[in-house]
Amino acid sequence: MVLSRRVTVLDALVRDIEAEVAAQTDAGGVVLTTSFSKEDQVLTWAVAESGAEVDVVSLDTGFLFPATVETWKQSEAHFGLKVRSLKPDEEAVTGLGELERIYEGVDARKQCCSVRKIQPLRKALSGKGAWLTGLRRAQSPNRASMEKREHDANWDIVKVHPLLEWDDATLDAVVSATGVPVNPLYKMGYPSIGCAPCTRPVLPHENARAGRWWWEQSSKECGLHRG
Ligand code: ADX
Ligand code: SF4
Repeated sequence: MVLSRRVTVLDALVRDIEAEVAAQTDAGGVVLTTSFSKEDQVLTWAVAESGAEVDVVSLDTGFLFPATVETWKQSEAHFGLKVRSLKPDEEAVTGLGELERIYEGVDARKQCCSVRKIQPLRKALSGKGAWLTGLRRAQSPNRASMEKREHDANWDIVKVHPLLEWDDATLDAVVSATGVPVNPLYKMGYPSIGCAPCTRPVLPHENARAGRWWWEQSSKECGLHRG
């Protein structure tokens, strides 16, 4: 990407974040959820750059890859901000039983996602006005029809996806221009990174989300987003 286009893209992103935060001043505030993906790192960069007040949170499911935990630490130092850790309720985790149940069927797997991701996030979003995510249309067919700014009835919140239209080349150019920390798993064949028991590397001909819940014939979503 040429320098002038890169500057325009980055300026527009920072302005988007500032406008969202300004619009929510009297409406509960803005949350950014991060899994330390390249997308989320670019959004965190824009939050830090704007200086706007955004609650940056991550779902610590108990099963993040060590490399993701390391990227989390590096990111806090790099951006000079704290990423709030959202942990699951211990009693609910005990109620799930053995982790291996997730491989028995989509319902059991989604129960684990519900306890470790959905319930903690529901608490964090409660009372907030807007939720920023790193979703892009190019990631999967489920995401192709999303709007950049939409009311999510399931969560009853305005959900904003500033990078929705970005293609892989734009994302990679901005990651390199901003110098944000990148999870080393990307270079090991993981283009989409979730919990360790539910993520494998992909082969060159596979799509980016093929390694998520790879044993399932499902929409490959956990309930945070559509599907
Ligand atoms: S997922 O639903 O399949 O796990 P994906 O990995 O594509 O989602 O990430 C899309 C967006 O979901 C991220 O930009 C981020 O906003 C949110 N997200 C996913 N996993 C987490 C996590 N562990 N903690 C916080 N946010 C997350
Ligand atoms: Fe559990 Fe896997 Fe969902 Fe993580 S992605 S919460 S380990 S089922």
